[in-house]
Order: sequence, then structure tokens, then C-alpha cells
Amino acid sequence: MAHINDHYLKLEAGYLFPEIGRRVRAYQDANPDAPVIRLGIGDVTLPLAPAIVAALHDAVEDMSRAEDFKGYGPGQGYPFLVEAILEHDFRSRGVELEADEVFVSDGSKQDSGNIQEVFGTDCSVLVTDPVYPVYVDTNVMAGRTGEADGAGYYEGIQYLPADEANGFVPPPPEGRVDLAYLCSPNNPTGSAMTREQLTAWVEWARRSDAVILFDAAYDAFISDPALPRSIYEIPGAKECAIEMRSFSKRAGFTGMRCAYTIVPKELRGRAGNGEEVSIHSLWSRRQATKFNEVPYIIQRGAAAVYSQEGQTQTAEQVAYYMENARRVREGLSAAGFTVFAGVHAPYIWLRTPDGLSSWDFFDLLLDKTHVVGTPGSGFGPAGEGYFRISAFNSRENVNEAIARIEQTFRS
Ligand code: MLT
Repeated sequence: MAHINDHYLKLEAGYLFPEIGRRVRAYQDANPDAPVIRLGIGDVTLPLAPAIVAALHDAVEDMSRAEDFKGYGPGQGYPFLVEAILEHDFRSRGVELEADEVFVSDGSKQDSGNIQEVFGTDCSVLVTDPVYPVYVDTNVMAGRTGEADGAGYYEGIQYLPADEANGFVPPPPEGRVDLAYLCSPNNPTGSAMTREQLTAWVEWARRSDAVILFDAAYDAFISDPALPRSIYEIPGAKECAIEMRSFSKRAGFTGMRCAYTIVPKELRGRAGNGEEVSIHSLWSRRQATKFNEVPYIIQRGAAAVYSQEGQTQTAEQVAYYMENARRVREGLSAAGFTVFAGVHAPYIWLRTPDGLSSWDFFDLLLDKTHVVGTPGSGFGPAGEGYFRISAFNSRENVNEAIARIEQTFRS
């Protein structure tokens, strides 16, 4: 028998969202008439914007004509998409990047999970806690950790609590680590880093020779123009940060799959022989070996997000979800919950009532209101006692969910 990767055996239970799905299915089997409303996984519900649909149709037509047909793509993304990304997501905010620093991919989940491969297995890792589980689990799989302790902390990972005291944005640590994962706007807490907070992290990373893996998958939901959307808005970040962005939430691409990662050429790491090595060249080599470009049709759809109509239509969709978030936030407050966020992110983070554990509250909410949320403890030990509600659903379902919660919990 082949020897398996033993590190997988260190992983706690199943991946969070399939586990929630399993519990909801079990509940529905036992209660087939319960009108369940899903505000758990952050999955978009609005159909694709018309500008995107039109671009997809055109791209399909291209594929039907010999002269326009496309096989393998150019490698890191078609120039029409890369140029639109550079212009709208970066130049418009004063950030200059080179075209080949953009790596178009099929998802930020994939990129934030795979990026650790280009770093040594002896690298030390820091996460904020609670955290998007992909960062932790992929480092466990790669063998960068020991076992998890009783509370769920893996040996070898440094956890920085993101709590009410620090507004869910912890400052950088005292000591040094090699790799630090940051997510802003944050999944799951919904907090967004200010320019000053992000600057402190960039300065810390430069001082201590750390690499920040910056997940900005929710940047489109930032409602305050003064907040940074890209880490490269902070001087010096190109020397210490990799950034991941996604079309999933901003343009309804969770089922289409398109994202991108920026690996600046200034970013260096050290080889075992002491030589400095370009991280960009390593990621480029990794992608060339293991990845074959997002389909042309999908990239055409993504490029349409930046057309004038596309920008207007996707901004309307973001505003629709953020209006849902406002209703959830205010409805839960009115029902007596202590709520956070939902202003710069499509997630509302709340304290569970009466000191209930996150999973106990998950069961109670499902049973009493048939509303599905996500237990905070699924995102890490510091999420225990908290709960996440997603704003991704129809207005009708969100209104109904809030009404049920208010009716059940209002004291
Ligand atoms: C979430 O609900 O946290 C997200 O949908 C997960 C993801 O984007 O992979």
C-alpha cells in the first residue's frame, strides 16, 4: 500500500462548509417541511450582470469561428483582462504594476491555498484568529504544523486573536514570522483594515523580512473610499506582499471561477544556499507546471466587469447585498444581539446569546428559525462564542430570515 501524506490526518474534522451542508441536509431529512433559508456559505445568488452575459455570448461565438477560436491561453491571463485589471483595480488608485505581475487564476481559494507551496516547509506561519480555514488547513497539509491541541490550535502556527478589544484587526506581532496571512475586508469577521493599520503591518513585514499573503477577495464591498483596497497602496508593500483578488463575490463568479494574484517582482525569498530568489519566478514556474489558464470565455466575462455597463451593474449587485447586510445588522440588533461588521463586507459577525457555543447556536437557530449561518468556531478557536451571517441571498429571504429571528429572540 502507498504511504499517504500523514499530515492530512492532523486535520480537524471535515472542511467547514461541507460539514454545515451535511448538518443542514440531516436536518431537512428529519424536517422535510422546514422552509430553510441559507445565510451560511457566502455564495452569490443574483444572476450574472447583463454586460457579463453579453460578453460571454460573444466569446462563445468567437469559439465557433476558426479565425477567432482559442486553444490554450497565453499563460497568466489574456492581455484584454490583465490590462483592465491594471487600469481599474490599480492605476485608478495610484498603483503601478507590470502586466506579468498579474496571474489570472480560477479562484482566490485555490491561490490562497496553493501559494504556500513556493515557500519552505520550515517557514513559520501566522494567522489572525478567527480566519478563513483554507490558510490553516493548507499549511497543515504541507507539513508546516504539528497536531492541533484540544482548543484547535495547531502547533507551529502563531494565532493572533482578532477580538472585540482590537476591533477584530490585531496589530502585528512583536516577534518575526516568515508568512503572515491577512484578509481585508475580513472573512469571517467583516472588519476592514484602515490605511494606518495596514501600514503598520507592511512596516512590520519589511522590518522583520516577513511575507504578507494578503487576501482582498472582498475589496469591492468596502464602502469608505479612504480605506485601502489593495495592499500596494501602502508604500513598500511590493517588497513584502502577495495579493489575491477575486471576481467571485464582486461579480457573481463563484460558479464561473475567475480571480487573480499579484506577485511583485521586488518580492524576494532566500534559498537554502543563502541566495536571494525571486518569488515571482517561483510562482510563475508553479503555475506553468500545474495550471492551464482560465477559459477564454470566462476571461471575456471577467473583462466585461470593467466595461462601463459592467462596472455600473456589478456595483448595483454589491449595493444590493450590502443593503441586505444593513437589514441583517439592524434586525439582529433590534432582536437584542451584539453585532459587528456588515459595513465593508457582506458578513455580519455576532456574539452568540447567553454564552452559547457557536455550534449550539447553529443548531438552535436552525431548529427555531430554519435559518442557516456559520459557527464562528469553524473559523478558529477565537471564533468560539460568535456566529457569521452572510448577506448573500434574495431580499425576500433576508427579510424573512430577520423577521423569524426577531420573532424568536426579541425579549
Ligand atoms: C465563505 O463563506 O467563507 C466563502 O464562501 C468561502 C469561499 O469563498 O471559499
